[in-house]
Amino acid sequence: MMIENPRILVAMDFDRRQDCLNMADRLDPTQCRLKVGKELFTAAGPQVVEALMQKGFEVFLDLKFHDIPNTTAKAVKAAAELGVWMVNVHASGGERMLAAARNELDKRSGAKPLLIAVTVLTSIESADLHALGVANSAAEQVQLLARLAQSNGMDGVVCSAREASSLRAELGAGFCLVTPGIRPADAAADDQRRVVTPADAIRAGSHYLVVGRPITQAPDPAAVCRNMAAAIKAAS
Ligand code: C5P
Repeated sequence: MMIENPRILVAMDFDRRQDCLNMADRLDPTQCRLKVGKELFTAAGPQVVEALMQKGFEVFLDLKFHDIPNTTAKAVKAAAELGVWMVNVHASGGERMLAAARNELDKRSGAKPLLIAVTVLTSIESADLHALGVANSAAEQVQLLARLAQSNGMDGVVCSAREASSLRAELGAGFCLVTPGIRPADAAADDQRRVVTPADAIRAGSHYLVVGRPITQAPDPAAVCRNMAAAIKAAS
């Protein structure tokens, strides 16, 4: 897997199309890609993804698909047809769901999005898993689901920086690691419990960094983005 700049994925967590487009106008597609999640997509639809791409940005469609294999595969196909750069599914959807999503993309001749799996959401702790009947600790379950994702053709996983170095060691340099929970050294943590700096995440083995509020709430979003890109370059 080639790591392609830019490595910053800005989380466009807005509930209105215009707020999102205004933020995009303050950012530079050579410095960042954009992540569209469930809130914005539900409020503003695929048209907002198209509008962002028309502004020159590549888009990570973060809808975390989790359904029966056929439905998940068709959702991934629709994302590919929309032209997004990256899309994701829940690894806990199981082998047949993952393989169906992979096969659907492999049937396509043109550009394909990177297909990424979510392992265990970082909001979930071991006790939550136990309440769901999963005996593994969260760390064990992350490893198990990451291996399942890799052996079923996923291009990578979303993981915390804390998990990145062990996943990198176990799954190899070619497996894409996408890491949220990033804060510049001088920023507020917001509601994130465990945060790391961009340089630390890169040193831990992350390929792409998801950054929301430190950029979108800043007085000068482009400047924060540029500074982070410089920190990433220095740590690479
Ligand atoms: O504003 P902030 O940088 O905390 O935004 C992080 C983004 O990454 C949000 O869109 C959030 O949903 C997403 N995310 C996360 N932790 C995960 C997975 C995704 O914060 N484990």
